[in-house]
Amino acid sequence: MYDHTSSTPPRWIPPSRWLNMRLRRVFTFLKIALPLVFFICYAVWYLYEPHGHIDLVFYEREWIQREMLPLSPLGGCFDPERVSPLYNVSETVHGRKRFEVQAGVTMRMGMDCYDFAGTVKFAEGEWNEEQRYIPPEQRAQFHTYWRVDLASLGERQEYMLKSFFATQDLPRSRLILWSNGDLSFNPIVRKYLELFPDSFALQVVDIPELAKGTPMENHRFLNLEDEKAWLDGDLVRLLVIWTYGGAWIDMDMLLTRDLSPLLEHEFVTQWDCYDKIYQALNGALMHFHKHSPYLCEAFHLMAHSTPPRSPSTDWGAILYLRLWRRLLSESIPPFKILPFCFSDPLACRLDNSVPEPFEPDRRDAKWTGRRGAGLEEGGALDRALGKIFAVHLHNRWDRAFPKGGWVDRLLLKRHEEEIGRRVRIDGEL
Ligand SMILES: *[C@@H]1O[C@H](CO)[C@@H](O)[C@H](O)[C@H]1NC(C)=O
Repeated sequence: MYDHTSSTPPRWIPPSRWLNMRLRRVFTFLKIALPLVFFICYAVWYLYEPHGHIDLVFYEREWIQREMLPLSPLGGCFDPERVSPLYNVSETVHGRKRFEVQAGVTMRMGMDCYDFAGTVKFAEGEWNEEQRYIPPEQRAQFHTYWRVDLASLGERQEYMLKSFFATQDLPRSRLILWSNGDLSFNPIVRKYLELFPDSFALQVVDIPELAKGTPMENHRFLNLEDEKAWLDGDLVRLLVIWTYGGAWIDMDMLLTRDLSPLLEHEFVTQWDCYDKIYQALNGALMHFHKHSPYLCEAFHLMAHSTPPRSPSTDWGAILYLRLWRRLLSESIPPFKILPFCFSDPLACRLDNSVPEPFEPDRRDAKWTGRRGAGLEEGGALDRALGKIFAVHLHNRWDRAFPKGGWVDRLLLKRHEEEIGRRVRIDGEL
């Protein structure tokens, strides 16, 4: 605290006063600097639209080197002599399709993704409405799964069942509700078994039995510890689709329209509109034919990889991506990837996602426009829901849909009414 420039002896300044002087100088600086920074930020924000998405995930380098980058050979499931006679490669893998389900870009602008979903639609009169009876096991099969040990099947789960029976083409469809315990005494389940006996069935999962005849038969990985049930769910969906063929629908989805136009393709979905490098694909909605060689290759890859971590998406998102890359490297046309909004319209930015389903409706610029219209019947949100196929709710089982909110008005109430209508028509026949 010496003043070298002055000849007067050093003067002692009490620490409190010294601090005071310092603080005053800092305040003066802030008084000028803060408004300046604020003004510059505001001007930049006003003139330019910032873009970017912060999503930092750390992947172990060692894991990337070991699991993600190498392309081990496929298991030969597409060799003509190994393809099941039940599966027609020239039709399913190489055949012409009625609809295009991949857009080629991520469709992050406005409502592009929803509008693209709207192109996957049969023209008036194109869909054959012939009312011939089809035996349940020959119909389009849909599968879903409920772990009875995690929670009991109640009202929230019933909404998914209702959405299925209200939106799907029931004379040509059957939903199989899989579980790891008996559900036949559950009153909700019984109600739908009685209402739709040919379009609904229950099954108990027997993993070792389902795995028979696949590269996972008797595999030691079938007995892994898995507390969060992530691996279990990922394995079960592949095994039941392999055995029965059909589409998988996670229990935390609400269907918004008939899935029939999608079923000419074999597909998984895009995880979200950001295309995370290793976490790009999702199996919450997926479709493969019975004994599909794609699934056979998935089992081969599982059987010859390091054990999956629990919990992880090693048998889900990660597996689909590793398989997809191997298919490309052997020049096999890969399965399709449906854009995020087809089934997961909550998985993009605030300005092009559907409104939060568990909160009361708010004025929402993208749906309501300037005239306050948009969330009502026939409004922008209603039309968008009619173009996409499902709303994935990402579990959140403890949350309820607000009474009179958009989910209640545009989906749940209508499903209820439509089921009533369908049951009446059925009764008259
Ligand atoms: C496979 O599909 C093609 C094209 O639809 C058809 O011509 C062919 O007969 C089918 N093959 C079998 C074995 O069903």
